[in-house]
Amino acid sequence: MKFPNNFVWGAASAAYQIEGASFEDGKGLSIWDVHTNDTHPDPITGISNIKNNDNGNIACDHYHRYREDVALMKKIGIKAYRFSLSWTRIIPDGQGAVNQKGIDFYNNLIDELLAAGIEPYITLFHWDFPQKLQEIGGWSHPDMPRIFADYVQVAVEAFSDRVKYWMTLNEPQCHIIVGHVDGKCAPKLRVSPKEAFYLIHSILKAHGLGVQRIRQYAKQNVQVGIAPNPSAFYPYSDNPDDQLAAQEKAFTADSRNLWATTWWLDPLLLGHYPEDGIEAYGSDFPQEINNPEDLAIINQSLDFLGCNFYTGACVRADNKGMPVIVDPKIGYDRTAFKWEVTPRILQYMPIFLYNRYHLPILITENGLSLSDWVSLDGKVHDPNRIDYMQRYLRELKKAIDRGVPVLGYLTWSIMDNFEWNDGYGERFGLIHVDYGTQKRTIKDSGYWYNKIIESNGKSL
Ligand code: NOJ
Repeated sequence: MKFPNNFVWGAASAAYQIEGASFEDGKGLSIWDVHTNDTHPDPITGISNIKNNDNGNIACDHYHRYREDVALMKKIGIKAYRFSLSWTRIIPDGQGAVNQKGIDFYNNLIDELLAAGIEPYITLFHWDFPQKLQEIGGWSHPDMPRIFADYVQVAVEAFSDRVKYWMTLNEPQCHIIVGHVDGKCAPKLRVSPKEAFYLIHSILKAHGLGVQRIRQYAKQNVQVGIAPNPSAFYPYSDNPDDQLAAQEKAFTADSRNLWATTWWLDPLLLGHYPEDGIEAYGSDFPQEINNPEDLAIINQSLDFLGCNFYTGACVRADNKGMPVIVDPKIGYDRTAFKWEVTPRILQYMPIFLYNRYHLPILITENGLSLSDWVSLDGKVHDPNRIDYMQRYLRELKKAIDRGVPVLGYLTWSIMDNFEWNDGYGERFGLIHVDYGTQKRTIKDSGYWYNKIIESNGKSL
């Protein structure tokens, strides 16, 4: 099995999940600093914000250990590393004064990566929204898209001489729905459906203005994208009816479901909100967000569509050709997180997305959590990760063979890290991190990935 010659093999991370140094060198607070350090049980659910009351204050201490971490990345052989910038490390209050030490940190990291032959891929926003901006209304503040764009400009002016690949937002769906509608993650709001649409509109506009600034201020010919998590579906069989049914399901918003992909990707890539979704929400959909001026800002031309994919639902066509969700077997294979192992999403979702949006696809995240530990022999044996990656990558190759331009695969994650509300319990890394000692150990999967990368997928 051989992948295209320029296929990008890499790994990903996010600032809050690995950096630590949360209160150092002038960094301002983000909503995640506040959320994780609030250990009072939630007054509504009675549950603590984070499992085990963990927090990201130290995390993997990557802020101090980035050199060692880049050396490990080089050893694994990754060609690309996707990481996010901490907005409040760069602009402590979210707007206004710039913190030179924050800029210095990312400059050093970028230089270290380039010296190791690793291409940096920057995500501008991976959920750690500035607390100061939350206090003035967060994404519901009318100026927030512009404030985000100002931050983007600072980052682009500082780093785009060396960084070619840029993504505006990571999984805006999760940030808005879990954080602002379900009230589970920072900033723990529970807004009405109507208010949720204003927030969605605002963050999509922030993306649009952000893209404009990147293009305007970039110091080289950059590649710009976004890293959402489209809801994933795959067909029960390869029969054309099942394939069509799964594709239709992937782009349907005919029930009140904010996770429906078209609420996010249609405005971003086609310039309109989905008609079926508008109908489903009726008077809860604020018609004023459906205005052509704003949609023109949201609908910027992109160079690639990043996608985070982990698990998906199986769909088949009923006897009228309509999509129905099916459980293809009793008892799925499951990761430690209990997420179903559904490799076929990595063949079908790129196909479906490319058919609809016609953009090259970059897998910006894919991976699994396992209960890894360091064995008596000093190694970390994670055969299930190897098997998972092998299954998903083989499926991805089929999408490429069927003509989809897939630019690369960035596995989640380069190292074990802080898994949001689940704290340190879930281990997603190619590198094991002992959080007590900060000792790093490359897992068997890291060595295996090295062979895959060296052979450009031939050994899959
Ligand atoms: C999605 C998120 O972008 C990332 O931050 C998270 O750790 C992984 N998926 C795994 O849940």
